[in-house]
Amino acid sequence: MESPFLPLSCILISSCLLLTTVHAGSGYVYYDWTVSLSIRSPLGVPKQVIVINDMFPGPLLNATTNDVVSVNVRNHLPEPLLITWNGVQMRRNSWQDGVRGTNCPIQPGQNWTYSFQLKDQIGSFFYFPSLLLQKAGGGYGAIRVNNRKGIPIPFPQPAEDIDLLVGDWYNVHHRDLRQMLDQGRHLPRPDGILINGHGRYNLHFQPGSGLTYRLRISNVGIRTSLNFRIQDHALLLVETEGSYTVKKYYSSLDIHVGQSYSVLVRAKNLTHGHSFYIFVSSRFTKYELLGLGVVHYPDSRMPPSGPIPTRPAPFDFGFSINQARSIK
Ligand SMILES: *[C@@H]1O[C@H](CO)[C@@H](O)[C@H](O)[C@H]1NC(C)=O
Ligand SMILES: *[C@@H]1O[C@H](CO)[C@@H](O)[C@H](O)[C@H]1NC(C)=O
Ligand SMILES: *[C@@H]1O[C@H](CO)[C@@H](O)[C@H](O)[C@H]1NC(C)=O
Repeated sequence: MESPFLPLSCILISSCLLLTTVHAGSGYVYYDWTVSLSIRSPLGVPKQVIVINDMFPGPLLNATTNDVVSVNVRNHLPEPLLITWNGVQMRRNSWQDGVRGTNCPIQPGQNWTYSFQLKDQIGSFFYFPSLLLQKAGGGYGAIRVNNRKGIPIPFPQPAEDIDLLVGDWYNVHHRDLRQMLDQGRHLPRPDGILINGHGRYNLHFQPGSGLTYRLRISNVGIRTSLNFRIQDHALLLVETEGSYTVKKYYSSLDIHVGQSYSVLVRAKNLTHGHSFYIFVSSRFTKYELLGLGVVHYPDSRMPPSGPIPTRPAPFDFGFSINQARSIK
């Protein structure tokens, strides 16, 4: 990759952006993000991770349909930075999309305020740094676009929305991975799978008849398709990347890199002291990587046990294709 220095055209484009108008009658959300490096050990191996406001994953971008979103991004990395809003539609122009070619990288020590409107949009998305393989170092976070007041969601209000950012992870610095690619080598196999920045993740459900949780799951990884499942809990698909779907139950879901899904999970009313596995396993790989989570209830006394939820065979492409075809 060539290094993205600030070309003159960027300065001209920046001047044009000042003319961008904001629509009346919509809400406004403002975020102030400082992007920096911090040592974290998600898989037990210390690594310089890209954090936003000292958080990994970064903070939730929580907005409502038609909101104008402004994000002041301060680049405290030693490298240029752009943040892109995966799946979010940029209406009328691409000047806020945060990718090379249309945007000037934010130089180290500089800041830049993104501003875009979520016109007519709803759903679950995520953001990530788009330059220099920085995504392999973190810097990603969830985006929720909520329905406007008075526009009901097409299912009962869940007890809670929970963002789950899943993805493959390398213990190697993203700079070293980049160097391998620059030398014409392949990326090595990832070292594991993270769920919200953890190799082992804990979720807490409350028991209750009819109580549901909305899990907004995104694959924020570099290269690995993942299969997501929760022991003894069916996944009711309700939304994919900005569209509500026909509701359909799945025992496990394939989530490819860049995809986001919302599923409703019904809490049990009796657990008999049990807790339950969450499995996130790699697809289409000779080796199997596993991200592990546990669903706890207030009365869970035992670690998860019993039959492991079944997954499709590693190279069962048909499973994935059928899943894609089944979503309407
Ligand atoms: C997100 O925004 C909605 C609408 O303003 C609000 O009701 C909700 O509490 C917010 N959620 C979080 C986690 O901030
Ligand atoms: C940089 O941040 C300051 C606030 O600290 C803000 O006033 C300014 O508009 C920002 N600059 C850009 C280009 O967004
Ligand atoms: C769970 O709640 C439902 C609905 O109230 C009830 O019909 C069912 O008997 C409960 N199950 C158990 C095991 O308590």
